[in-house]
Amino acid sequence: MTGKKERQWRSMTKGLVLGTFLTSCMILVYCFTTPQIHLSLPEVPVPYSCAHRPSHVQPKPANNSSGRSHGQSCAPKVDVMFMKTHKTASSTFINILFRFGEKHRLKFAFPDSRNDFFYPSPFERSHVKDYRPGMCFNIICNHMRFNAPEVAKVLPMDTSYITILRDPAELFESSFHYFGRLVPFTWRIPGDDKLTEFLRDPLHYYNTEGFNSFYLKNLLFFDFGQDNNLNVDDPHVKEGIKLISDRFQLVMLAEYFEESLILLKDTLCWEMDDLLFFKLNARKGSTVSKLTPELRARALEWNAIDWKLYQHFNKTFWKKVDSYGRQRMAKKVAELRRRNSEMASICIEGGHAVDAGSIHETDMQPWQPIGEKSIIGYNMKKNVDKTHQKTCRKMLMPEIQYLTELGVNLWITKLWGHVRDIINW
Ligand SMILES: *[C@@H]1O[C@H](CO)[C@@H](O)[C@H](O)[C@H]1NC(C)=O
Ligand SMILES: *[C@@H]1O[C@H](CO)[C@@H](O)[C@H](O)[C@H]1NC(C)=O
Ligand SMILES: *[C@@H]1O[C@H](CO)[C@@H](O)[C@H](O)[C@H]1NC(C)=O
Repeated sequence: MTGKKERQWRSMTKGLVLGTFLTSCMILVYCFTTPQIHLSLPEVPVPYSCAHRPSHVQPKPANNSSGRSHGQSCAPKVDVMFMKTHKTASSTFINILFRFGEKHRLKFAFPDSRNDFFYPSPFERSHVKDYRPGMCFNIICNHMRFNAPEVAKVLPMDTSYITILRDPAELFESSFHYFGRLVPFTWRIPGDDKLTEFLRDPLHYYNTEGFNSFYLKNLLFFDFGQDNNLNVDDPHVKEGIKLISDRFQLVMLAEYFEESLILLKDTLCWEMDDLLFFKLNARKGSTVSKLTPELRARALEWNAIDWKLYQHFNKTFWKKVDSYGRQRMAKKVAELRRRNSEMASICIEGGHAVDAGSIHETDMQPWQPIGEKSIIGYNMKKNVDKTHQKTCRKMLMPEIQYLTELGVNLWITKLWGHVRDIINW
């Protein structure tokens, strides 16, 4: 009994500390951003393309292009907007983008002081580090709440818009694990299996106005800047889906990550080398609750808008695969898997991911959800040969460390990390 009391007391204290810290953070953030927002930035057009060599000016010689099968020329597209959705393998993808950006010396539109664009506030140009109107950026890829008109003002016209979705039931489970403790209404859910209890009667616990409540309902739709609390039959849902499908050239699916990358390569004229990856920011299998069919059905019903969104883009995805060619796709996926496992045997000690506690270097330590050490990571082999050393390091590096290496100042994120270290959270 006293153990339970103590736990309750601890969790209340944590809640209090969290509340105080977040409030202070918000106040600080407001102090820093408010003057900029109210200045109303002038609108200077961004050039049509921000590629050093725009594809329509200097195409590659037609007879030696390795990128295309049909023989037509193409230069890799380097102007990319990646809408980084939450809990969708997007950290693995962002690592691919970072490396591609470095390879082509591209300019990233990064946030300032933290690793997202003041999520969940809708994106504003003024959130971009060192932004000046009319400036050229190639890639924007950190978490944001999508806001099409403001994003368009930062990026050139020839930007390719890319995003990724994940099965909403799995996503909900993941989000509940990762963000649940940041959502105050979950604190009063009784029992150890809060997820099941919540899904038993979501409306009993859910509060539309609750702080951070969007993490636990239609998070995908919310990330795209839409209203996550609409009724699924509301016409705005259809409109929202249409907006996304008009804006984004490619909507990838986390469940078919390799296939998605091959479609990406085809859409952006990239090379197979650009697609190599190790799964980053993954959760230890034992901490993933396997949803029973009944719970899964409830999770989908609760996240009905995301389910509709996912089903829509699942259809368009497989249409794309069909027009790419199923067999051709299978071959390319096999090649990518083979290349990835080759890299794994070159770079990774033991060849697989390990628990956070077994990661030797702090540089390789992934960011953990509150109160957990469930995110696994890697140890790099000690004797990697010179030619692979840099690539291995970058492929294995967690997002926060990579952002720091790319010159992003993350003081708010890091301060938050230190506070958590101190209170051992
Ligand atoms: C193919 O490339 C070679 C150089 O590698 C060039 O001399 C030749 O003219 C090209 N042919 C065509 C049809 O573009
Ligand atoms: C073009 O391809 C041929 C063989 O297919 C090769 O011999 C030649 O060196 C290539 N040219 C260029 C410019 O890459
Ligand atoms: C996605 O589409 C494929 C192919 O049409 C289908 O087999 C699969 O059941 C769909 N998945 C979902 C979750 O709708």
